[in-house]
Amino acid sequence: MKKIGFIGIGKLGLDCAEVMAEKHEVRGYDIYPRTSDSVKVCDIDELVNESEWIFIAVPTPHAEGYDGSVPSSHMEPRDFGHAAVIDAINKVNTHARSPKKVVLISTVLPGTTRKHFFPLLDSKHQFLYNPYLIAMGSVKWDMVNPEMIMIGTEDGDWNGIAGELKDLYDTVMQNDPRYEIGTWDECEAVKIFYNTFISAKVGLVNMIQDFAMKIGNINVDVVTTALARSTMRIMGPKYMTAGMGDAGACHPRDNIALRWLAKEYDIGYDLFDTVMHAREIQAENLAKFLISHARQHALGIVIHGKAYKPDVPYCIGSYSTLVGHYVKAAGFEVRYLDPLADDPTDVVTELTGPAVILWAHDRKITYEYTGDQPETEPYCDIPRGSVIVDPWRKLNNMAGLTVVHYGNTRAK
Ligand SMILES: NC(=O)c1ccc[n+]([C@@H]2O[C@H](COP(=O)([O-])OP(=O)(O)OC[C@H]3O[C@@H](n4cnc5c(N)ncnc54)[C@H](O)[C@@H]3O)[C@@H](O)[C@H]2O)c1
Repeated sequence: MKKIGFIGIGKLGLDCAEVMAEKHEVRGYDIYPRTSDSVKVCDIDELVNESEWIFIAVPTPHAEGYDGSVPSSHMEPRDFGHAAVIDAINKVNTHARSPKKVVLISTVLPGTTRKHFFPLLDSKHQFLYNPYLIAMGSVKWDMVNPEMIMIGTEDGDWNGIAGELKDLYDTVMQNDPRYEIGTWDECEAVKIFYNTFISAKVGLVNMIQDFAMKIGNINVDVVTTALARSTMRIMGPKYMTAGMGDAGACHPRDNIALRWLAKEYDIGYDLFDTVMHAREIQAENLAKFLISHARQHALGIVIHGKAYKPDVPYCIGSYSTLVGHYVKAAGFEVRYLDPLADDPTDVVTELTGPAVILWAHDRKITYEYTGDQPETEPYCDIPRGSVIVDPWRKLNNMAGLTVVHYGNTRAK
């Protein structure tokens, strides 16, 4: 049993600490009051001195307006904030009375650790960069079933402490994960480009959806299924269903921050701006489609699902609110249905009359990689006469309701 401490026990850190606590003695420290049944929440001095391993999972925030829930591709690129990580490192330096194994989990842009963090850490400590591929709604499952574990060291070689971290993970993992060792900078890059590959993939797939809507006689699923099965040159089937755009607390903001990195290193072009710009126009196209139905039927517009995905409250980086932004910008009102949403603006709990409803959440598609999943249940009674716009094309026709499959323009 190892003694482990987590600095920062928020959305990522607490669940990860609790997974570790199933096998180890785990403490947690946060500047915000937190509670846990299995992790001992304590002060920083106890955490640092009672832990052999110290994981840092504090935020590396984007600036206000840079999360992707509203348009940002016109704004000046910005790097993530480093203040909380620097504070955590300083606290380890101040309190540690013996050498520690420090592991940074937080997401940062390539080059950040070497330039901004490592020089600050007292030389008696050892340091690894170890970002996680974890999604909200399935943190604990993702933690023990990762596609890979990235371990970044100063020179990119396995060293003693990297091997020890692998031994530590071997005690909790369920899926015998692949380990990728690299320099700090390479692991920073693996993590962030993993996320932005997904955004680019979703951007391409949703572009096919846009073409389907404009050209006609195209069901986007026929096209993307054929492409997804083309494993000889194109990758696997995940993220190959056109629908809502890429969203959440990580993916959009990572692209937005990479715009800053492309400029900082004078790369000469900015692919991420294009990906994010495409995402915004795709949201606007969907908004225009909702508006055309609202006009045609003289109905209001409702978005079913405000959080960036089902089963979580987080509206950060939400594609629903991006679509809603364009609906509002065109002079229409928008209401949201979502019992969990952490941003109550424009959220209603019921509908008193029919509406044009964007079926933004589909939990089967979002979570199917963790096993078979039930469908999203309506968040309230759907009044007869409503028009449901299903960007995932999964809903069947229902009595008294019209279901429109966005992205399928084949003749019925
Ligand atoms: N949430 C995810 O799905 C996810 C996945 C992969 C990576 N990440 C990365 O992990 C990091 C943390 O993300 P999160 O979603 O858990 O953020 P969060 O804001 O939910 O949690 C961070 C926690 O750190 C605490 N904190 C802030 N400053 C602190 C300080 N100086 N000392 C101690 N505690 C401090 C906050 O109170 C909060 O509880 C970010 O870099 C994020 O990009 C998150």
